[in-house]
Amino acid sequence: MTLLTDATHNKIRELMARYPQPRSALGPALEAVQQQLGYVSEAAMVEVARLFDLDAAEVRAFVGFYHMLRQEPPGAYHLEVCTNVPCLLRGAGQCADQLKQKLGIDYHETTPDGLFTLGEMECLGSCGTGPMVAVTKKQANWMRYYEQLEAPEHIDAMLDELRQLADVPAAQLPAPERVAPGAADRSTGPYHHGHHPETNNMLARIDQPESHTIASYEADGGYALARETLQGKTPADVLETVKAAGLRGRGGAGFPAGMKWSFLPAGVYPRYLVVNADESEPGTFKDRLIIEYDPHQLIEGIILASYATEASHAFIYIRGEYFFGAQRLEQAVAEARAKGYVGKDIFGSKKDLEITVHRGAGAYICGEETALLSSLEGYRGHPRLKPPFPAVEGLYSKPTIVNNVETIAQVVHIVRHGAAWYRQWGTERSPGFALYALSGQVKKPGVYELPYNTTLRQLIFDYGGGVIDDRPIKSIIPGGLSMPHLAADKLDVSMDFESIVAAGSSLGSCGIMVICEGANMVELALRTISFYREESCGKCTPCREGTGWLKKILERIERGEGQLGDLDTIERLTWPIERQSFCPFGPASVWGVRSLLKLFRVDFETYIQQTNPSGQAPVLPVRPIYRPDTGEPAPQVRV
Ligand code: FES
Repeated sequence: MTLLTDATHNKIRELMARYPQPRSALGPALEAVQQQLGYVSEAAMVEVARLFDLDAAEVRAFVGFYHMLRQEPPGAYHLEVCTNVPCLLRGAGQCADQLKQKLGIDYHETTPDGLFTLGEMECLGSCGTGPMVAVTKKQANWMRYYEQLEAPEHIDAMLDELRQLADVPAAQLPAPERVAPGAADRSTGPYHHGHHPETNNMLARIDQPESHTIASYEADGGYALARETLQGKTPADVLETVKAAGLRGRGGAGFPAGMKWSFLPAGVYPRYLVVNADESEPGTFKDRLIIEYDPHQLIEGIILASYATEASHAFIYIRGEYFFGAQRLEQAVAEARAKGYVGKDIFGSKKDLEITVHRGAGAYICGEETALLSSLEGYRGHPRLKPPFPAVEGLYSKPTIVNNVETIAQVVHIVRHGAAWYRQWGTERSPGFALYALSGQVKKPGVYELPYNTTLRQLIFDYGGGVIDDRPIKSIIPGGLSMPHLAADKLDVSMDFESIVAAGSSLGSCGIMVICEGANMVELALRTISFYREESCGKCTPCREGTGWLKKILERIERGEGQLGDLDTIERLTWPIERQSFCPFGPASVWGVRSLLKLFRVDFETYIQQTNPSGQAPVLPVRPIYRPDTGEPAPQVRV
C-alpha cells in the first residue's frame, strides 16, 4: 500500500530518466508529490527516499531547505505577498495589511473556510509591477502572479476571481499568465518596457501576438542563424566572435562570457551548458520577459553557445516561482524538438543537443553558480569551494559553463551581426547594450534595453518617466538589492561596470532601484538585512549568525530601543561577514546596509534620538537566574 498514486510514481520515474544522474530529479519529484497531496508529508518523504534509494533523512534535509516545498497542508489557495524592498517602495505594506484585514487572518494562518492561506514572500521577479501576490492552487499544478495591486478594489477583484475558480477542475483553469486587476486590460502580456532607438534586439518581438511560439519566431527569421552557423562555421568561429565582442555575463559578476568558455579543458567530455534562470536578486526582472515572451530566442542562443562550447546537454535552471515561464520554456523546447532543432544530429550537423528545463524550489542562493549546480544535482543549494571552477569541474564533476539568460540571448545578436557591430555601443571594457530593470519610486518602472554608457539620469527620467510626484531622489541602488546605495549626486554616472564601481557601487545584475526623499532608511535597512537573514543557506557561520545579529539590532532600533552606539556595532559586524563568509552571498548581504549607514547616518541617528530620547538600554533576553531562596526566576536586567 503506497501513499503516492501510480500517476505520481510514473511521473517521478519519467523525471528521473531526464537526467544523466537520477538524483537530479529529487526536487521536481517532490514537487510532483506536492501536486498530489498539497504538501510533502513525512510518509511521502519516506516513500520518495525509497524511490531514489536514499535515506529518508536526506529527503527531509532537502525539503527543509527549499521554501516552496511545504510540510503542512495549506488552504485551497496559498497567497504569498512580496514585501521585499522594490515592492515595499510601491505599497506592499498596505497591500499586505489589506489582505490580512479582508481575509481576517495573519501570516501563516488559514481562513476558517479553508480557502486561503496567507504568507509573506521574498522578491518574485515582479519588482516593476508591484505590489504583487503569487497565488498557488492546491493540488492543481497552477500558480499565477497578481500584480499592480495598488488599491483595495484590486485585492477584492483578485479574491473574487479566486473564489469563482475554487471549484473549477484543474484542466479548465485559465492560463497562468500574469494578471493585473488594476490595469485597464488586466494587462496580460509583457509589462512595461522600452529601448534606445538603436538597440532594439532582445525585446524586439515580445509585443507580437503569440511571440512565444516557434511559428512566430520562425516567421521573423528565427533559427536560420543557428542552421547557418552549425552548417557553415566551426565552434571556434563562434567562440572567437563572442570573445571579440567582449560580451560580459549578465548574472551579476560581469565576467566575459567568451573568456569563460575558453577555460574549458581540451578534450574532456561530456560538457554541459547550464542557463541560470534563477532570477532572484531583488530588483531584477529582465530575464523573465525573454523567458515568457521570446523563449525561442533563448533556445537559439543555447544552440549557438552549446555549439561553441561543444556541450551536448543544456539545462535551464529556472526559479520555481517562475511557473508560467517554466511552462513557456517546456512548450518551446518541445516545439524545437519536434522541428529537429533539439535532439540528435540537429540541423544535419551531426551535433546532438538535449535541453532540460529544471524548476528550482525556492532558494535565493541558487543564483550563485556553484549552489545552483548542487541544487541541480539534487542536493541542498550549498555553494562549493572555488577552484575548481565549474568550467573545469562543474555539473556531475564535468566541465560546465553557467551563463545567465540574458547573456545567452545576447549571443544570438552578436553571432548574427558580428563583434564590431556590438562594440559600437557602450565603452571599451563594457561594450554593447544591456537590459536594465528599473524599479522603485519611478513613474514607469520596467525593463529597458540600452547601451552601456547610458547614465542613471537618462534611464530614470528619459525612459522611466521621472520620479513619482516629482519628489527629490534620495538614493539609487544600481545593481540589485545586494549592491551599495549611491547618493543622488551620482545621477550622471554611466551605467557600465567600471563607472559604477568608480562611483562606489557595482552594476551587478543591472537592477536599478530608485528611492525618494521621505523614505524611512531604518525600515529599508531592516528589510534589506531581513532578506539576507532569511536566504542565508546556513553553510558558514559569519553569514548565518552575522545576518541574524544585524537583523536583531535593526529590529531593536526600529521599535524604539536603539542607542547611538548600535550604529557602530552594525558597521563593525559587517566587516567579518564580508571578509570571512564562504561565498559571495556574505559580502552581498552587508553592502546595502553598510552603504545606507555611510550615506545616511544622520537619518539613523535622528530616528534613534526621536524614538528613544532617553537613550535607555533595551531589556535583552538573558538566561534566567533562579533565586536560591524562592526558586523563582530573578527579574531581567537592563544591560
Ligand atoms: Fe516584490 Fe521583486 S517582486 S520586490
